[in-house]
Amino acid sequence: MRTALTDALTQLPDALQRVVSDWITNTHFGATFSPEQVAQMEAESDLSGAALRLTLLPIAAAYAVTPISTFNVGAIVRGEDGTLYLGANIEFTGVQLGQTIHAEQCAIAHAWTKGATRLTDITINYSPCGHCRQFMNELNGAESLTIQLPKTDPKPLHAYLPDSFGPADLGVESRLLTDAPHQLPTDDIDIPLLKAAADAANRSHAPYSGNYSGVAVETSDGAVFSGMYAENAAFNPSLPPLQVALIATNMAGYHWDDIRSVALAEMTNSTVSHLTDTQATLDAMDPDIPFVYSTLST
Ligand code: THU
Ligand code: ZN
Repeated sequence: MRTALTDALTQLPDALQRVVSDWITNTHFGATFSPEQVAQMEAESDLSGAALRLTLLPIAAAYAVTPISTFNVGAIVRGEDGTLYLGANIEFTGVQLGQTIHAEQCAIAHAWTKGATRLTDITINYSPCGHCRQFMNELNGAESLTIQLPKTDPKPLHAYLPDSFGPADLGVESRLLTDAPHQLPTDDIDIPLLKAAADAANRSHAPYSGNYSGVAVETSDGAVFSGMYAENAAFNPSLPPLQVALIATNMAGYHWDDIRSVALAEMTNSTVSHLTDTQATLDAMDPDIPFVYSTLST
């Protein structure tokens, strides 16, 4: 287990520490808390709802990978069924800062990779930057998403983003987390990791460019983490598919040196491509990571 996580555990009140330490120290801890686990934490800690989530933020921030800033941000999103998904900021040395993943994006994409389709709340240890406010405006349920910060009353996203620009301005109805599966054919792909990437492309949110794309990361013990591309109406806060796959990898407790190979699938003849950025980020992480790439057409 990462030392940051052990350190974060010691910051929790004793009663909460007793409940969560067994879960967190388990190698299969997936940086999520089920509704039953939330109920158990509430029963044994005298903390409930937003107060409990605020208290758990150090556990989320312990997942930060911040070689550039050493500034650790933690975020916790709550799915509609009450599941909590943790997230933290992730930085990459050797590439441009635009590749950075914010904690809010990490928690949201983490929830998405685990099947959440609507989020009710996000709890963060710092005020969300403009780019994250815009990223959240793409979500299914953005209209009713509540933002909770340590020293501020809970407020809806629209209070943080008045006069917002969003999908409706571009005539787009689909929202992040709820895209119906796309229909790119994947049955003939005989490389399993590339097939996983293509399956992720079919679940991506790319209503603006139409470039459905996905990445799959395989770790040295054979685990596979898929990442779907998440576009944003304002384009720049989009989250590339490699970032989403790395979020899933990081939140499952793996480190970059556990990565054995990576695949990217995207569409033929698209107006945008993730090929060069994906290769640049992977090269900066480890130039020896095997990389497979394929384009798909309908
Ligand atoms: N950061 C976040 O994770 N969320 C925000 O909204 C503010 C900034 C991260 C990005 C970068 O890793 C570090 O904090 C410094 O900006
Ligand atoms: Zn941000």
